[in-house]
Amino acid sequence: MSITKKVFGTDKKTKKAVYEYSIKNKNGMCAKILNYGGIIRELWVPGRDRKTVDVVLGHDDLMPYYENPGYLGAAIGPNANRIGGAKFTIDGTEYQIPANENGNNLHSDNESGYHVRVFDVEEGVNSIRLFLQDEDGDMGFPGNKKFEVVYIVTDENELRLDYHFVSDKNTVLNPTNHSYFNLRGQDGGSIEDHVLWLNASCYTPVAAGSIPTGEILPVKGTPMDFTEPKEIGLEIGADFAQLKLGGGYDHNWVIDGADGQLKLAAKVTAPGTSRTMKVYTTLPGIQFYAGNFIGEQEGKLGAAYHNRCGLALETQYFPDSINKENFPDAVFGPERQYVSSTVYQFCNN
Ligand code: BGC
Repeated sequence: MSITKKVFGTDKKTKKAVYEYSIKNKNGMCAKILNYGGIIRELWVPGRDRKTVDVVLGHDDLMPYYENPGYLGAAIGPNANRIGGAKFTIDGTEYQIPANENGNNLHSDNESGYHVRVFDVEEGVNSIRLFLQDEDGDMGFPGNKKFEVVYIVTDENELRLDYHFVSDKNTVLNPTNHSYFNLRGQDGGSIEDHVLWLNASCYTPVAAGSIPTGEILPVKGTPMDFTEPKEIGLEIGADFAQLKLGGGYDHNWVIDGADGQLKLAAKVTAPGTSRTMKVYTTLPGIQFYAGNFIGEQEGKLGAAYHNRCGLALETQYFPDSINKENFPDAVFGPERQYVSSTVYQFCNN
């Protein structure tokens, strides 16, 4: 195990130094993480031949991360995904948060969301702890909040993210990480041939604007069914209203048997590689986003990114759960601290 640290740049807004931490295990797996946005900038995982491949999309320098419209690799907070009408009511008070997408809120805030913030850092042996604070009312969310996420690399070829969040007022807390994976490598082209399995017999359908309708529907007999491993591209273009609304897969799946303990939620393989990624989480939901709107952008080492060249598996409370009584409760405060873990494990089959 080793951790090294190098200067990556200076944040133009706060003038704070941005560092990149490389955490490496005995097999050569290495995660490179920025204290800017909590970004997983590179993730090198060993193949059967022990050669490592970088399986996450990202950029070579800080500049493209200032806007980062696709949220490449970033920590999202305090709330991931969408809140309908960009408002919610807690304990009788209505809160308005930024309406940054079609009158709704997406990923908290473009200017102050965690994906564009500089975190404080504490180094461990095989981990780094990134932490920051928000004041009551920041981005419209109630509560003085303390957020931390610990990134851990283990000798079992896992990258583990442990989240902890406290607030002195009831508020909505739902952080995630927005890495895009391509198991052929960050410049590996389309992920439509990747094979996905989801431990989910239901999903939460959306209406226009990708706000959940509140229903929890079975996937059986629909293109949303990944209960048997299936090529992502097989039905992504099907004439199915939910796929039209999301421009492809961009939905929350309801993890079967979620009970707050680490559960296997997803498994991905890529033909032609021996690589498998398993995602474990303590959370009740997982957003499978097929990268439908990545757009054309230059990635690391001149890679030409385009729609669907990476896939995101964002563990989470269900989108808009704050406005849906039947969804698991994402309100945390003095009486309920937020704790969650997500593990990305890599193996060669
Ligand atoms: C959402 C997508 C959105 C993307 C932004 C994902 O978490 O589900 O709808 O386009 O983030 O990059």
